[in-house]
Amino acid sequence: MHSKKYLIANWKMNGLKGDLNQISIIDNFIKKKNNLSGLQCIFCLPYTILAIALTNRKLKNIKFGAQDISNQLSDFGPFTGQISSKMLQDLKCKFTIVGHSEKRSNGDNDADISQKIQTASKNHIKVILCVGEGLNDFKSKKSFIKVKRQLNLSLKKNKKFLKNIIIAYEPIWSIGTGIIPNNKYLNNFFYKIKKYLKDEFKTKATVIYGGSVSSNNIDQLKNINLCDGFLIGGASLKSKNFIDIMKKYYS
Ligand code: PGA
Repeated sequence: MHSKKYLIANWKMNGLKGDLNQISIIDNFIKKKNNLSGLQCIFCLPYTILAIALTNRKLKNIKFGAQDISNQLSDFGPFTGQISSKMLQDLKCKFTIVGHSEKRSNGDNDADISQKIQTASKNHIKVILCVGEGLNDFKSKKSFIKVKRQLNLSLKKNKKFLKNIIIAYEPIWSIGTGIIPNNKYLNNFFYKIKKYLKDEFKTKATVIYGGSVSSNNIDQLKNINLCDGFLIGGASLKSKNFIDIMKKYYS
């Protein structure tokens, strides 16, 4: 495991201005604790409140990211509704999620995702690249074939940028369902991902897990040796749930 521990929150289409106080509470908690060594806490917010969070100087212990960026290679242009990596850079935003299954199911393909990583790299935005298989692939034991393909198609044009990519393995059947794979399965899966990226891309990858992570299962999940952290959706929306996860992760 790397010395850094990632706890990355994905707020999805949630959060109004007033909800940023949940993040202030978490920021205070981190500030007061001195035993959270290596913690990298990143909140990926909707653009509307991302810009506000990034300009709040009091939030010193949390970093912020977007949940997606445009696949257009140009920084500006006639692309209604899209946000470029240049715009994130302008806000001093350092991270974005790319390839979340909820975006893939809404039309993003591997070529789009590869291009998004290219534009992020151009403007120095680090990428949290989500990969994961659906239930049918899992049942027919094709999980790794599917994930390997996603990794290869997203990364082959981005080899130089690999140090700035965190891989988030998120089985789609686990997102928002409360169902998580067992540790033995996950450790083996992480081993395969890391080995594949080392052999094919010559990189020591950071790999995190996402899918129904909560304070009820973090005690179990934290024992996965090869796991460098977690991507947390629903359980990141309320400070109490997120702080419970942090406490247990470090206990
Ligand atoms: P979840 O979402 O924790 O609510 O399952 C995780 C994600 O989709 O990133």
